[in-house]
Amino acid sequence: MLKISNLALCLWLAASSHCLPPDKVSAAHIIKTRSIDLNNAHGLAMETRLDRIVEPSGYKLEIEPYMEDGVFKGRVSINVTFLKDSDVILIHCGHDLEITKVDIFVPFFDGQRVEVKEVTLDAKKPIATLHLSAVVPKGTKGSLDFAFNGNMETSHTEGFFKATYMENEEEKALVATSFRPNNARRMFPCFDEPEYKVVFELSVVRPKNMLALSNVPVDKTDEIEGEPNAVWDHFELTPPMSTFTLGIVIGDLKQVNMSVFKDRLGNNIELRVWGRSEFVPALVGVMDKILVVYKHITQLMKSPLPVSRLDFVALPNYQGVKPVDNWGLIIFKESDLSSKGYLQLTQEILYQWLGSLATPAWWSDAHINKALVGYLAADIAFKVNGGSEMEGKWPMTVLYSLYYEFSKRYPHSRITGMKQETACTKIELLFRMFNYTLGGDTFKKGLQKFIESRKFQTFTGDDIWENLNTAARADGKIPQDMNIKDVVKSWIDKDRLPLIKAERKYDTNKLVITQKVFLRERPHDVPDAAKMSWPVPIIIAREDRLNFSHTVPSSWLKDKKELTIKSMPNKDQFIIVNPEEIGPFPVNYDQQNWILLSNYLQGKDRLKIPELTRAKLLHDAWNLAYAGDLSFATALNMTLFLKDERHHLVWDPVFTMIDHIGRHICSCIHGKFRAYVRILLTPLYQELIKNEREDEENWRKNLRSLTKTFLCQAGYKPCIKEAQEHYSKWMEAKNPDEGNPISNQYICPVFKWGTKKEWEFGLQRVINFPPSRKQSERTYLLKTLAGCPIDEYKINRLLNITILEGNGNFTETDLFLIFSMLTGSSQGYTTLFHFVNNNWDVLKEKFISKTNLWDNLITSATSQFTTEEGLELVSNLYVAHQGEFASAEHIIEKSMRNIREESKWSAENLPVIEKWLDAYLANSSVKDDLHM
Ligand SMILES: *[C@@H]1O[C@H](CO)[C@@H](O)[C@H](O)[C@H]1NC(C)=O
Ligand SMILES: *[C@@H]1O[C@H](CO)[C@@H](O)[C@H](O)[C@H]1NC(C)=O
Ligand SMILES: *[C@@H]1O[C@H](CO)[C@@H](O)[C@H](O)[C@H]1NC(C)=O
Ligand SMILES: *[C@@H]1O[C@H](CO)[C@@H](O)[C@H](O)[C@H]1NC(C)=O
Ligand SMILES: *[C@@H]1O[C@H](CO)[C@@H](O)[C@H](O)[C@H]1NC(C)=O
Ligand SMILES: *[C@@H]1O[C@H](CO)[C@@H](O)[C@H](O)[C@H]1NC(C)=O
Repeated sequence: MLKISNLALCLWLAASSHCLPPDKVSAAHIIKTRSIDLNNAHGLAMETRLDRIVEPSGYKLEIEPYMEDGVFKGRVSINVTFLKDSDVILIHCGHDLEITKVDIFVPFFDGQRVEVKEVTLDAKKPIATLHLSAVVPKGTKGSLDFAFNGNMETSHTEGFFKATYMENEEEKALVATSFRPNNARRMFPCFDEPEYKVVFELSVVRPKNMLALSNVPVDKTDEIEGEPNAVWDHFELTPPMSTFTLGIVIGDLKQVNMSVFKDRLGNNIELRVWGRSEFVPALVGVMDKILVVYKHITQLMKSPLPVSRLDFVALPNYQGVKPVDNWGLIIFKESDLSSKGYLQLTQEILYQWLGSLATPAWWSDAHINKALVGYLAADIAFKVNGGSEMEGKWPMTVLYSLYYEFSKRYPHSRITGMKQETACTKIELLFRMFNYTLGGDTFKKGLQKFIESRKFQTFTGDDIWENLNTAARADGKIPQDMNIKDVVKSWIDKDRLPLIKAERKYDTNKLVITQKVFLRERPHDVPDAAKMSWPVPIIIAREDRLNFSHTVPSSWLKDKKELTIKSMPNKDQFIIVNPEEIGPFPVNYDQQNWILLSNYLQGKDRLKIPELTRAKLLHDAWNLAYAGDLSFATALNMTLFLKDERHHLVWDPVFTMIDHIGRHICSCIHGKFRAYVRILLTPLYQELIKNEREDEENWRKNLRSLTKTFLCQAGYKPCIKEAQEHYSKWMEAKNPDEGNPISNQYICPVFKWGTKKEWEFGLQRVINFPPSRKQSERTYLLKTLAGCPIDEYKINRLLNITILEGNGNFTETDLFLIFSMLTGSSQGYTTLFHFVNNNWDVLKEKFISKTNLWDNLITSATSQFTTEEGLELVSNLYVAHQGEFASAEHIIEKSMRNIREESKWSAENLPVIEKWLDAYLANSSVKDDLHM
C-alpha cells in the first residue's frame, strides 16, 4: 500500500497547532505516559518478581536528608512474616543505596539467635539477598532492620530528589519523592511491588524554616538535641498502601487555600493547595476547581478515601511529564496545577481511588487502569468544563486515529511504541461503550462494586469486567447468554475494528446487519479477515422516533455475522446505526438510506442530529469510499450539507478528508478538486474572519487557521495575494540573509502559487544561508521549496542545482529531505520520476556507491503513483533499465505491485469523482472566480 508522507501537510500546517493530520497525532488527551502505565510497562512486565519468602506487614521508616549535600541517611524496620521455611530473604534495594547495617529479629531457634550472616547484591537487578544463620520456619513473624545511606537524585526529579529554584533572588532547595513505578527501592530497602500494601510509620528530619508533607498529617514534632535548625516530624500511621504511593515533600511552601469537603456519606476530607510564595497568586482559584471535580468524583465513588486530607502541591522545578500521585499528596509541575483545564486535575484525583485505594496488580494491568481513569476523567471534565475541554473534540480525536490505525494493512507497523497507546485508547472507548449500552447507573454500580471489592488490594482487568457484568446482569442490561468479559476479550484481542453494514429491505421494513473487518488501505488481503467477528451493540436512531438519548442496544450482533431486525421505519425515513459513535466502529448503509441522510442533513431539521453524529456520518462516508466500500458519489453527496454547517466538530474530519483524498487522486483532477475545496471552505472562512474576536474560544481560532491553510493550499486568491504582499517585504530587504522577517504561514503559498522569481529568491536564501543562523529555519525553507511547488520548472530547477550541478551548499541529508518532500504531491513525484528517467546514467554514476540515497531516490520517484498511466511509466523504466537498479531492484518491483493495486482503485473511483465534481462545479451557487 501507498506510504503517504506526512511531511507535506505538516509543513502546511506548521504555523498552526495542527501540525500533523489527525491520524498521526497521538491521542493527546490520554494521560501522558506515566511510568507505571505505559512507556515502561513492557519492560516492567518482564521484571522479576521477588520470591514469596517473606511478606511485609508494616514499615517504620526514618529519613534524614542533608539538603545542602544532597545525601541522606535512613533506618527502616520492616515487620515481616515468613511464608515458607527459608534461610535467605530477597528484598529490593537500589544499587546506589549503601547498607550500613542489617539485622533480623525473630524468635530464637534451637536456642540460637538468628543473624544475618551476609548480604549479597545482584549485579544486574536491584535486589539484595540476606543470608541467615539458620532456617526460619514458615509462619514466623519478626522484623528486618536496615541502616543505610544514599544520594538524592539531582539530575532528574524522580526517586528521592533534590531540586533548586530561585525566589527573591535567592537560591532555594527542596526535596521530594517520585516513586512510580519502582523507585521506592532507591530510597530504602523494601518490597517494592504493588501488591504489598502495608502501613507506614514515617519520620523525617526537616529544617525548621520549611515544612514537611507526606501521605498523612504530622502526629508530633520533636526537637533534635544539639541541632537548633532542624526537627523530627513524626507522621501518623498511613493506611495500607503500595510502596510507590508513598510520598514526601520538604520545602519552603505556603498554603494557598484550604477547604473541608463533606461528601454525601458524611466523610470529611481536608483539601489543601500549596506552592512557593511567589507562585501563590497563580494558584488562586485552583481550590474552586478541585472542589467541583471532587464533588463529581465522590458522586461516582461509593468508597470514601481513607485519608483525612489531600494535598495539591505546585512544586517548583518539578520536571516529570506527569504529576506524582502519592496517596493524599499529589505533586504537580507548577504550570500544570495553575493551568486552565480540568482534565489532568480530574485524572490525578481519580488516581487516588484507581491506583492508590485499588491498585493494578502488575505493570501489565496498568493500561486498563489508565484507560478507565482516562475515560472517567474525560467524562467528568466535559461535564464540568463543557466544550472548552480539548475543544470538545473527545472522543473524536482518539477514535479517528484508531479507525485509521486499525484499518491499515499492518497496524502499528511504523511506530511500535504506539501499540500500547492505541490498545489503551481502545479500552477507554470500550468503557465509554459500556457506559452507554448498560446505562450510566448500571455502569456506576458495577464500578462502585469493583472498587469496594478491591480496595486496599490489587486488581486485574477481569475484576473490573466481572463487576460490570454482575451489575449488568442484575439490572437486565445485557442478554442472558452474554458476558462482558467475553465481549471485551473479543475487542481487545484483535488489532482491528469491525465495519457494520446496515442494509434496509424497504419492501418488508427489515434491516439486515452484517459485519466484516474494517480495512481502509489496500490491499485488503488480511489473513484470517474472514474469520474475524465482534460482539457489536446495535443501537438505532430512526427518523420517525428521533431520540439520541436512547443508547441501549436493541440487540447485539454477537459473534455472528448477520442479524435481521424488523419494523424499521418507512422507506422515506432514515435510520442511523451507532449514533454518537457509541461503539468504536464505522457503519455503511444501502444507497437509499445514504440519500435519505444526505437530504435530511441539507434540510431545516438537520440540527436535530447532534454534531458528533453529523460528524460521524460524514467521516464514515468518505472513509468508506476511500476504502472502496462506498461510491464516491454518495460520499461526496454527504459533504453537501456543509454549506450550512458551522460546528467545528463536524468540520474537523473534513480537513482530514481533503488531505487524504487530495493525496490519493491523480493530478488529472486536482484542478477540479481544488475548486471544490474552495467552494466548500470559502463561506465558512468568510464568516470566521467576519466574527474574529480577541477573547474568542480556541476552537474558533484553530478552525479559522485550518480553513485558511487549506484554502491557501487550494489556491484561494485573497490568501495568495496576502502571502505575496508579506513575502515582498523579505525580497525588498537590504540584507535578506540576516533573517526572515515574515511569518512561516506565508512561505508555502508563495512557493506554490507565486512566480518563479519569488521561488528563486527563496532558493538563493537557502544557498546563502549563514551558518550562524538557526539551521531549523534553513530546513523549513528547503522543505517548502521542494514540497510546495506544483510547477515542474521549480522542481526541476531544484533537482538540477542540487544533483546535476552538484552545488556544494547542499548536503546528502538535504537530498533525502528533498526526495521525501517530493512524494507529497503528484506533481512532485511525477517530476522526480521524469528527472530520474531523463538523467539515468548521470544519476546512476553519482549514487552508485550511496546505496541509501539511491534506494531512497527510486522509492520516492516510483512508489507514489496510483494510476494505470503511472504504472506504465514505472514499468517502462523498469524494462528499460532491467538489471541496472542494483539494490533498488526489489524497490521498484514493490512499487509496481502497489501501483497495480492502487490503479484498480483509481480506475474505479477517479471517473466517479470527476463526474461528481463536474456536476458540483456546474451547479455551484458560490462564485469561484477567486482562484488563479
Ligand atoms: C511491627 O510489629 C510490632 C510488634 O508486633 C508492632 O508493635 C509495631 O507497631 C509494628 N510496626 C509497624 C510499622 O507495623
Ligand atoms: C479558597 O477556596 C474557597 C472555596 O473554598 C474560594 O471561595 C476562595 O476564593 C479560595 N481562595 C483562594 C485564594 O483561592
Ligand atoms: C428518549 O430516550 C430516553 C432514554 O431511553 C428516555 O428516557 C426519554 O424519555 C426518550 N425521549 C423521548 C422524547 O421519547
Ligand atoms: C447525489 O446527490 C444528487 C443531488 O442531490 C443526486 O441527484 C444524486 O443521485 C446523488 N448521488 C448518489 C450516488 O447518491
Ligand atoms: C535542468 O537541466 C536540464 C539539463 O541540463 C535542462 O534541460 C533544463 O532546462 C534544466 N531545467 C531547469 C528548470 O533549470
Ligand atoms: C554555494 O553556492 C554559491 C552560489 O551558487 C557558489 O558560488 C559556492 O561555490 C557554493 N558553495 C559551495 C561550498 O559549493
